[in-house]
Amino acid sequence: MVIYVHSNPHHNHLTLDTHTHGAAMDTLTLICTISFILAGGLYWFVFILGSAEQKGKHAVKLSGGSIEREKVQDKYNQYWSFFRRPKEIEKSENVPAFVDTFYNLVTDIYEWGWGQSFHFSPAIPGKSNLESTKLHEQMAVDLIGVKPGQKILDAGCGVGGPMRAIAAHSGCNVVGITINEYQVSRAKAHNKKAGLDAQCDVVCGNFLEMPFEDESFDGAYSIEATCHAPKLEDVYSEIFRVLKPGALYVSYEWVTTELYNGEDPEHVEVIHGIERGDALPGLRNYSDIAEVAKKVGFEVVKEKDLAKPPSHPWWSRLKMGRIAYWRNHILVMVLETLGIAPKGTVDVHEMLFKTADYLTKGGETGIFTPMHMILCRKPEKVQD
Ligand SMILES: C[S@@+](CC[C@H](N)C(=O)[O-])C[C@H]1O[C@@H](n2cnc3c(N)ncnc32)[C@H](O)[C@@H]1O
Ligand SMILES: *[C@@H]1O[C@H](CO)[C@@H](O)[C@H](O)[C@H]1NC(C)=O
Repeated sequence: MVIYVHSNPHHNHLTLDTHTHGAAMDTLTLICTISFILAGGLYWFVFILGSAEQKGKHAVKLSGGSIEREKVQDKYNQYWSFFRRPKEIEKSENVPAFVDTFYNLVTDIYEWGWGQSFHFSPAIPGKSNLESTKLHEQMAVDLIGVKPGQKILDAGCGVGGPMRAIAAHSGCNVVGITINEYQVSRAKAHNKKAGLDAQCDVVCGNFLEMPFEDESFDGAYSIEATCHAPKLEDVYSEIFRVLKPGALYVSYEWVTTELYNGEDPEHVEVIHGIERGDALPGLRNYSDIAEVAKKVGFEVVKEKDLAKPPSHPWWSRLKMGRIAYWRNHILVMVLETLGIAPKGTVDVHEMLFKTADYLTKGGETGIFTPMHMILCRKPEKVQD
């Protein structure tokens, strides 16, 4: 159209060309600038804001553990269907598979949001979450009086945050067991990276029937893990079996406290919320723990709810985490929409947030504790 204005086609051509070029340049510059800002913003959002406390996991690497990407949503739905058919979960033999599914779904999100230790600890004024977590882990191994070079069992080891802290602190060798294959690969990679793979070993297996010899360990601990056993007796008796006579075992148990009233609908709702959001076959009463320990043959050396004052609240980090949660939730939604995170990740993330609320209520009301500590000894053999 503009072409007809000038008589000189050559000149016309030139003018037109320069003009289009100029406009194109402007648009291009604008697009470049905007993309640059957006990319920078996204990078900042994902990598700076979204990185785990221990920088162990980036949001873009969130996965469904050993579950294929396409199946994550299905597995999440299947996880919930367990609770729609409570009879299923009551069948003890289904529980390990259900727990395994749960840890496929949450392991990356835990590592991303929490770091490598999947347990609570009392807050310690002036110390970071990471430091108070480590002190809680070191206390476990101090309680069982481990010597350098001894062989210790970690029953339900997760991705091995506690194992590494404990090996480094005490000089002992730790063998961890977890039902979840994906956690085994994560734990092994972390052990290697920390230069602790000579001291720390991890096997995939069920702690209700462990692939270990009788009397082969000098000590054992479990941190917030035996709560997943359908019958506490089954895991305690296995730990008893693999310990040498005279060896000590310490466990941090999830239980309802003496303040819990099974007739109070609000209490019941909180406890059910915790069970559903954490793959628990049913929380136990605090008084059951020592009873079971004695039943399988242990002497109970010490028992204490480590959450009780003067300990500072273990749930304060959940409350402070609310803003981080919303930031992370938007991020997970963006990543799932872009097809970077598998479909279903948003649902899993939301489930964990709701559970955090129930845990906080459990902590504030004092009806629940995740750190009922029990220290047991396998009796020495009686000489005859
Ligand atoms: C809340 S995580 C705690 C992990 C670790 N102790 C920590 O503090 O980081 C519970 C762990 O128990 C493991 N677990 C649950 N049931 C199990 C079973 N039947 N056999 C082996 N491990 C099991 C899970 O795989 C998971 O690693
Ligand atoms: C827990 O055990 C104690 C002591 O045996 C008992 O008094 C209490 O009623 C139990 N609580 C529940 C909710 O079962």
